[in-house]
Amino acid sequence: MIVETGRIDIRKSIPCEKNTVVPRLSYTNYKKIFKGKKYPLAFVNMGLLDENITQIVKRSKEFPIRIASKSIRCSHILEYIFKSDKHFRGIMSFSGTEAIFLSKKGFDDILVAYPVINEEEISELCAEIKRGKYINLMVDKLDHIHLLSKIAKQNQVVVPISVDIDMSVDFPGLHFGVWRSSIRKPTNLRSVLEGIKRMDYVKLEGIMGYEAQIAGVTDKVRGKWLMNNIVRSLKKFSINKIASKRRKSVNLIKNMGFDLRIVNGGGTGSLESTIKEDVITEVTVGSGFFNSHLFDNYSRFRHEPAAGFACAINRHPSKHIYTCSGGGYVASGATEPLKLPLPILPQGAKLLKNEGAGEVQTPFTYRGKDKLNIGDPVFFRHSKAGELCERFNSLYLIRDGKIEDTVPTYRGEGMCFL
Ligand SMILES: Cc1ncc(COP(=O)(O)O)c(C=O)c1O
Repeated sequence: MIVETGRIDIRKSIPCEKNTVVPRLSYTNYKKIFKGKKYPLAFVNMGLLDENITQIVKRSKEFPIRIASKSIRCSHILEYIFKSDKHFRGIMSFSGTEAIFLSKKGFDDILVAYPVINEEEISELCAEIKRGKYINLMVDKLDHIHLLSKIAKQNQVVVPISVDIDMSVDFPGLHFGVWRSSIRKPTNLRSVLEGIKRMDYVKLEGIMGYEAQIAGVTDKVRGKWLMNNIVRSLKKFSINKIASKRRKSVNLIKNMGFDLRIVNGGGTGSLESTIKEDVITEVTVGSGFFNSHLFDNYSRFRHEPAAGFACAINRHPSKHIYTCSGGGYVASGATEPLKLPLPILPQGAKLLKNEGAGEVQTPFTYRGKDKLNIGDPVFFRHSKAGELCERFNSLYLIRDGKIEDTVPTYRGEGMCFL
């Protein structure tokens, strides 16, 4: 397979701009902005967030964009993004309780992308729907449908639902995708649709298919030339299969008499291919707003490093080694070095291979020209976007070299969903 994929030179067809990685302000600028503040702290550079918003709208080419709140986890930022452009419509929520929280705060058009299986939660969601809010719940099994229908009946409300179609592609010896939905074949979809037809208190209005192998798999990792090329070839080969599966699924749903208002697909990493599918009505984007550093490693787009955190140096154990307090905010998923936070300023700071980012202390090497003292900050980017906010109660919003505002994260509002 390696030899075969090597023949396709897809690099030529993939435009790639310069990688920014480090925010445009210097270490001295950032240090000045946070002078006198208590570390660790987290921040969003609003100017860079604005640039990411503009880029995301441009990449999505007029498609409505559903915001994946899992990759934000701050209601103020969600509101900010919605206000910034008319293409942002609706939220993709990551839990029933989060959807209730957001709905009560005034957000509407919420697609809960993962099955809710707690009766109390479903009941509360029903109450929000009864209040006139549009909340659509995800199913991929008859069990999900039966449970939703039972609770919806108790609450005397019809619940809008969506089916989640598995978008993975199998190659000999390789499952290229993720293990989520049980709707893997047309027969699975048909039996779920027949189940929905039998129920009075649920109404199928949407279909979601997340092509994780395109959107969530990096293909431009430094030092991984061979792997990058294999992944790009696999992606290229998968894209047509994904489009065909989604089209067939939508046709089957329509032929069975359902009206679809949502055909959702994609994520930050797949916009270019998802928008080419004519059955798609909307795309989802989350990570691209903060652009956590994992998303520097894609060949088809570049966003700005808009969010980060800073920890204070509290020790200096050796000439070129400094240690800061905190920093061990490692991202979820299969463990690999890319899941570690990335030191960005002072430029040239590097984590130690043997220690990584520690539970309470993080050492790093630095040989650059800035003089570092005890109490000085070191700035990092998280590997995954929303996980940053699970570590901090608030975000400093900075613009034009100044702190513009401080806003609570979900955690700062006392919320912890997943
Ligand atoms: C269902 C679904 N849609 C879309 C996304 C894409 O989100 P992001 O843009 O943050 O990568 C994800 C990410 O995991 C997802 O689970």
